Amino acid sequence: MRFWPALPPCFCLLATTIFAQNPDAKVVRAAHVMVTSVHHEATDAGVEILRQGGNAVDAAVAVGFALAVVYPQAGNIGGGGFMMIRPTTDHHPQKPMAKDGKPHFIDFREKAPAAATADMYLDKNRNIVKGMSTVGYKASGVPGTVAGLALAERKYGRLGLKAVMQPAIRLAREGYVLTDAECSYWGRNKTLASNAESRRIFQRNGHPYQGGDRFIQPELAKTLERIAADPSDFYKGKMAAQIAKGMQAGGGLITTTDLAAYEAKERTPLVGHYRGYEVLTAPPPSSGGIVMIEALNILSGYDLAKLGKDRSAAQVHIITEAFRRAYMDRNDYLGDPDFNHNPLKEMANPAYAAAWRKSIDPVNATPSAKLVRPAGFMPPPPKIPSAPESQQTTHFSVVDADGNAVSTTYTLNFTFGSGITIPGLGFLMNDEMDDFTSKIGAPNGFGLIQGPANAIGPGHRPLSCMSPTIVSKDGHLRLVLGSPGGSTIMTTVLNNLISVVDNGLNIQQSADAPRFHHQYLPDVLQLEKTFPRDVAEQLRKRGYTISQQTEFDEKSPGTWGDSELIEMDAKTGELMSGHDSRRTYGKAAGY
Ligand code: DON
Repeated sequence: MRFWPALPPCFCLLATTIFAQNPDAKVVRAAHVMVTSVHHEATDAGVEILRQGGNAVDAAVAVGFALAVVYPQAGNIGGGGFMMIRPTTDHHPQKPMAKDGKPHFIDFREKAPAAATADMYLDKNRNIVKGMSTVGYKASGVPGTVAGLALAERKYGRLGLKAVMQPAIRLAREGYVLTDAECSYWGRNKTLASNAESRRIFQRNGHPYQGGDRFIQPELAKTLERIAADPSDFYKGKMAAQIAKGMQAGGGLITTTDLAAYEAKERTPLVGHYRGYEVLTAPPPSSGGIVMIEALNILSGYDLAKLGKDRSAAQVHIITEAFRRAYMDRNDYLGDPDFNHNPLKEMANPAYAAAWRKSIDPVNATPSAKLVRPAGFMPPPPKIPSAPESQQTTHFSVVDADGNAVSTTYTLNFTFGSGITIPGLGFLMNDEMDDFTSKIGAPNGFGLIQGPANAIGPGHRPLSCMSPTIVSKDGHLRLVLGSPGGSTIMTTVLNNLISVVDNGLNIQQSADAPRFHHQYLPDVLQLEKTFPRDVAEQLRKRGYTISQQTEFDEKSPGTWGDSELIEMDAKTGELMSGHDSRRTYGKAAGY
């Protein structure tokens, strides 16, 4: 059985950038600051801002806008995401990043336009219209990135929006040199080709860019300059009118009223505990944080290191069973917190985790179909279970000289989002509407069952898996974590944590370790191409249905995610970074 019925766009992207994990890949070390992202130009933008005296939020906002220029697959101003901010608790800096010294979480997830309806992607026979929620004008939610980054900068930045946007503006105006990997991918992308303006800008009207070409984006430079001068122009000014006009001309739903009504929201971060570490992670509308906390609570009852080494069958088995259970709850309960009651306390209850542990066979897989939720802990689930997700996103991490940390994951959803570039503005719009439930009870592209808690509704935010996470111990920063990968985000992030905490891997080894993923349904254990074949065989014997591409399958990259991680040495305070070796043009850098 194949895990994905059709190869999702972000997996195609990896086909051009993946290579086998490099055992010699070196940890990048720095004494004061560190930035890591999927694109070297964006990393440099963050370091430039830190050198100017910016703090971690200044740098993260600079990276966010720079990625919107150099990584159009997912870097964006037409999409949305989440930012986790953890001010240092090691000392009292002269200029504290947050006055209250507390962690903050900024939700700049897209919202459905007012005209959106629960069945907008169904035909008259109530069948899903293929592609309608992923490509084209109707696929976009109201973008949140500009509001989110501007809010972060205003409340927690030091240098101001104009200053931190300069690297992005320069990259757009003066251009930057493309690599072969970027060009080959853009040149053949069908989503971009589907829209005349996107085709003109990113595919040079059918004469694709070549490695070594300089890519200049004058319209985007102008747009960024206007945002730097006044970010509210995007939502309430002339730019809002341009966006709404452009969207409506193509049959899209977004109006000036929708844009004016958009707000980025601060939400209380979720806090979990694991082996003495504090795990600060994403609350709803992300499902990521609570799923990881539930899985960690289950795993707390096992001595994973004693069971075997990193990626041993014994460890993978227990971790997979924890995820199977946590994803079951995700599917059944979670949705936009502004419109649903999410039973977070119940999901995070250690007694509930202990009850789940009793259902785990120490050797063999539990078939998902036979899984029974322990009684007495959870409220009755909404009548029909919920959840969806999909691809292409990016994550970046920053730590500044004071030890402030920022972890950000943001997205257009699928690679290049909806493919729509509004003429004159130069940026791609998201297709985040596909993260909603298009049809109640129908499995989506990942085989997830979709339900009412995550139904499309005016002003609703679609449920996400993005999980920017920051880990500390005894009040000291230890890890900044995050990854793209749709529904695989939580397994990637949590395995990064386990690799370091339980198995003693260094941060680069943790980023590169071959991934495994299970999400309850479909009942398949998904393994990366490079996952050890002998361990896969042992897992098969334990009763898992395995999905793993063969090493010779060039069409399917067989890998996912992009761990852009930072670790702080507990004793010396040295920063170490792991830039995911799966991505060829990213970089970790610091000083
Ligand atoms: O919000 C979400 O969970 C998805 N829209 C993220 C998609 C994603 O990570 C794709 N990455 N490859």
